Amino acid sequence: MPNSNKSQLRSPRLKRPTRSVHIVGTGSYVPDRILSNADLEKMVDTTDDWITTRTGIKERRIAPDYMCTSDMAVEAARRAMEQANVREDEIDLIICATITPDMPFPATACIVQHKLGAKRAAAFDMEAACSGFIFGVEIGQQFITSGTYNTVLVIGAEKLSTIIDWQDRQTCVLFGDGAGAAILRSRGEEHGILTTCMGADGSQADILLMPAGGAKYPASKESVSAGMHHLKMSGKEVFKNAVVAMQTAAEQALRNCNLTIQDIKCVIPHQANLRIIEAISDRLGAPMEKVYINLHRYGNVSAASVAIALDEAAREGRFQRGDLILLVVFGSGLTWASCVIQW
Ligand code: ACO
Repeated sequence: MPNSNKSQLRSPRLKRPTRSVHIVGTGSYVPDRILSNADLEKMVDTTDDWITTRTGIKERRIAPDYMCTSDMAVEAARRAMEQANVREDEIDLIICATITPDMPFPATACIVQHKLGAKRAAAFDMEAACSGFIFGVEIGQQFITSGTYNTVLVIGAEKLSTIIDWQDRQTCVLFGDGAGAAILRSRGEEHGILTTCMGADGSQADILLMPAGGAKYPASKESVSAGMHHLKMSGKEVFKNAVVAMQTAAEQALRNCNLTIQDIKCVIPHQANLRIIEAISDRLGAPMEKVYINLHRYGNVSAASVAIALDEAAREGRFQRGDLILLVVFGSGLTWASCVIQW
């Protein structure tokens, strides 16, 4: 083999440029139907007072039977595309973060690709539970930074009402349905996504899970009658881990950028429990006025939570172009992630 060919084989990859990545549009969608704490009082042995004081949640949205996770994802995606002025044929990649896909396979992202008519886009699902949206943003960013793709659609979408045990008062009061989306692109200017941190601890996988329906416990009459297709949670354990992991992840992201919490205009945490958010705000030294909260209206929407909150905070003008924002999330896995963005 001639020498020139050998050297080509030794370094087959082209050196690619690195680019800063921006969120150029956001969108969200929640179903119309509201399930209030008063409604839940009629379903299980609970009270509005217990739910409000222990969680901060007042109501959540529930999707109708005919509406799939992909339908909500498409609605959120369309709103993000409209805001970003991005057409279907400009999308290179769709990442859908969800623990409630339309079905185990194919990926919900592929169904979204078809419904959007985004024929050029590659598509896959990403599962990191409530941390999934930030994991998706990090993955999308890597594709753009490397020069592989120009336009990435990241979605967090959930129909959690389908995996909730509506007779279990310890979990059914916490969750809701909805979707949020973001379009990632390089604006050809500095700043954008400044850092992203991700982490996981599989040794505690059993404190928040849906046991059956996978290869370990395939669906069977027994698995259904044992309620193994419902979300199970050790609330106190999740609570403790969430506070520590979110504080650590947020501090890591700030350190990576050489910033302090005083530099941050708006903190957008995962919306699981007001007491978790207050504990993190206290530990980080962030006044609650800086912290965006919408969990009283939607409950915990897992991967969609922070995506919906980001969209609503942006549309409400909680931060402007050039402001620094901090996103921090925690979920089953265990997983956690944080992200600093100069908007
Ligand atoms: N209504 C009335 N009473 C209730 C309810 C309810 N809905 N749920 C539980 N209780 C009772 C319990 O039975 C218990 O009664 P007991 O003392 O007689 O045994 C009492 O209230 C206290 O229960 P705890 O579980 O100790 O309550 P706690 O203060 O820990 O709050 C909660 C429970 C809200 C679930 C809390 O632990 C929590 O928010 N944990 C984190 C949840 C979370 O963040 N999950 C999402 C992670 S993200 C993801 O990946 C999906």
